[in-house]
Amino acid sequence: MNLADLNKVALAMVTPGKGILAADESSGTIKKRFDAIKVESTEENRRDYREMLFRSTEAMSKYVSGVILYDETIWQTARDGTPLIKLIEQSGAIPGIKVDEGTQALPQCPGELVTVGLDKLAERLKKYYERGARFAKWRAVIDIGSGIPTMTAISVNAHALARYAALCQAAQIVPIVEPEVLMDGDHDIDRCYDVTQSVLNKTFQELRLQRVELEGMVLKPNMAISGKKCAKQASVDEVAEKTVRMLKACVPAAVPGIAFLSGGQSDEEATAHLNAMNRIGGLPWKLTFSYGRALQAAPQKAWSGKAENIAAGQRAFTHRAKMNALASKGEWETGLEKKVA
Ligand code: 13P
Repeated sequence: MNLADLNKVALAMVTPGKGILAADESSGTIKKRFDAIKVESTEENRRDYREMLFRSTEAMSKYVSGVILYDETIWQTARDGTPLIKLIEQSGAIPGIKVDEGTQALPQCPGELVTVGLDKLAERLKKYYERGARFAKWRAVIDIGSGIPTMTAISVNAHALARYAALCQAAQIVPIVEPEVLMDGDHDIDRCYDVTQSVLNKTFQELRLQRVELEGMVLKPNMAISGKKCAKQASVDEVAEKTVRMLKACVPAAVPGIAFLSGGQSDEEATAHLNAMNRIGGLPWKLTFSYGRALQAAPQKAWSGKAENIAAGQRAFTHRAKMNALASKGEWETGLEKKVA
């Protein structure tokens, strides 16, 4: 492993003024997104949609540091035969790859999940590196509910995240470590804070135990936020203050950067929260975005599967990427949402 090179890639992924496009929806997830815009999820449509994003020259060259791909996409070619991964490289962004293979029910823990995909991971990473991937992603899912999460779920998922991260670094690939605490329940922000703190502490304990070099990784956490069904929704400032406080307590300064998931927040909330955190300032790591839905909901709607809407889809993507890029520097304001068409 060359740690200096891993650190260089990790720092580039969290460059202020840029962030990560999470375009790694599994076949099942992208089908759900396409169903919502009444587009059939065929291989060709998935290719056309992602080609539209990667050919958004302004967004990709100015606001996007890296793109997380799904296995299908990393091997696909654009309509003109150019590999899609080349479009990303040509824009100056770094290609990455989702390597977990989704979740399975966790035995003895009703309602809880464990992320799988460690078998043969070393071989898969080698192939992805040869294809051009310089970072990877693995997502653990922790749900909050009555009696959950259990320590069992937190522990097995943290262990798998660290196993994955160590294998990535051995393959000269920067691991994005993503322990996602879902915002689906009716819990309040303080419960989210407590659970996320336990999850992050356990994750860093495992990362250390398995000798993962913290300078050569990026953390992708959820924010401390109210559950979607909670009657009392925390304000933007409360989310920002509590998230920063929680991260300061759990994330070593050796980690170069933190790139948040959007997790079901509205587009503008995800931007406002990131912006408010960067306005607090004085942080030991860079804070940016690694959004899926909060970057893509608008372009998906504008495109709606029609070739004649490609320019509109690219405009919508560029706008969201720009808003989040500003938020990564604490320079976003709500008024900018209306100005940019
Ligand atoms: P969302 O921003 O839609 O949560 O997706 C980010 C991601 O990569 C989840 O794994």
